[in-house]
Amino acid sequence: MFDKLTVRDADVRGKRVLVRVDFNVPLSEGSVADDTRVRAALPTLRYLVDHGARVIIVSHLGRPKGEPDPQYSLRPVRRVLARLLGRNVHFVDSVIGPDVTEAVERMVDGELVMLENVRFEPGEKANDPKFAKQLASLAEIYVNDAFGAAHRAHASTTGVADYLPAYAGMLLAREVETLTDMLANPDRPFVAILGGSKVSDKFGVIDRLLDVVDTLVIGGGMCFTLLVAKGLEVGRSLVEDEWVEPAKKMLEKASQVGVELMLPVDFVVADAIVEDAETKVVGRGEIPADMMGLDIGPTSVELFKGVISSAKTVFWNGPMGVFEMTPFEKGTREVAGAVARNNRAVSVVGGGDSVSALRKFDLEERITFVSTGGGASMKLLEGSELPGLEALTDRT
Ligand code: 3PG
Repeated sequence: MFDKLTVRDADVRGKRVLVRVDFNVPLSEGSVADDTRVRAALPTLRYLVDHGARVIIVSHLGRPKGEPDPQYSLRPVRRVLARLLGRNVHFVDSVIGPDVTEAVERMVDGELVMLENVRFEPGEKANDPKFAKQLASLAEIYVNDAFGAAHRAHASTTGVADYLPAYAGMLLAREVETLTDMLANPDRPFVAILGGSKVSDKFGVIDRLLDVVDTLVIGGGMCFTLLVAKGLEVGRSLVEDEWVEPAKKMLEKASQVGVELMLPVDFVVADAIVEDAETKVVGRGEIPADMMGLDIGPTSVELFKGVISSAKTVFWNGPMGVFEMTPFEKGTREVAGAVARNNRAVSVVGGGDSVSALRKFDLEERITFVSTGGGASMKLLEGSELPGLEALTDRT
């Protein structure tokens, strides 16, 4: 159950509503390369427009250093948003100040104004109360729909909530609800597949998942630290030495709680991460000393596909190998395909790389829920508080 008030609980007609969205999208040559996050914010924005609100849109983009930096301007995103909404979206080149105040004062019901990148202001990341108050003074209501930034305690994600009635947007609510329900009430068997390069990034999530899943599949670069913990040699594969001991504890916990923890049994290896690499397939105990495991091998693929196909709940986060390169993409492609093909299961995919993989292999439409949050979804799943969520008004 989602226990915060949402935008549907607010009386927004004729009101100035400050909406924090996560339009931190990839740009390529000045254009939006992937509009997923813009599309994801449309239900809330449309709702507000349809209910006669005056919508002030705030977002960050990239990591500018607290001052204007044209390469991080939100202007290209405004164009995409206007096209998707089929409406004019006014743009102001600043975040606070006379131009913003004037643009907001001129607004009529159902209009949208988008402010420039909020991280152009030093007060944003510092969560400076003075800046938060200035931002809040533009509006009468605050709506946070930026799930992807909900793990950041910044002025526009938490600070403004001290000065305005604060509601969750529809995307934020749906993300939180889906991810928490998945952990609380999964249909079984519940299979989680984790990959990506570093085990250190996902340790908290693994620990939490071990309490709820039936099977945990671990591939990608992170599995080598676990294989070392099991006493295997892994050649030049990626290993986080300081995480070998914690990884041993993780393996012990899995056997204590009766979770099947599946690791790859074979790998595609090469001596360099290049498109024209010479590769071969070896068993997991046979990685040559001068080579690296860069994808899971065919036997592992079949093994993983088997457990995925019999699951009723599947969570996938992180690629199985260096899927951006053709010689090492197969494991990720096959795992993504198996998740997508299991239409008896609720499938949830989170994290930037897994989502890019789904897009690369054209499978996104076949997943039950694709999270827009990378870091935020990991924090939520590991049980950490999300400041952007905590700041919102509780439903009593
Ligand atoms: C993301 O892309 O994960 C969010 O937009 C947060 O961005 P940040 O890591 O720069 O805070």
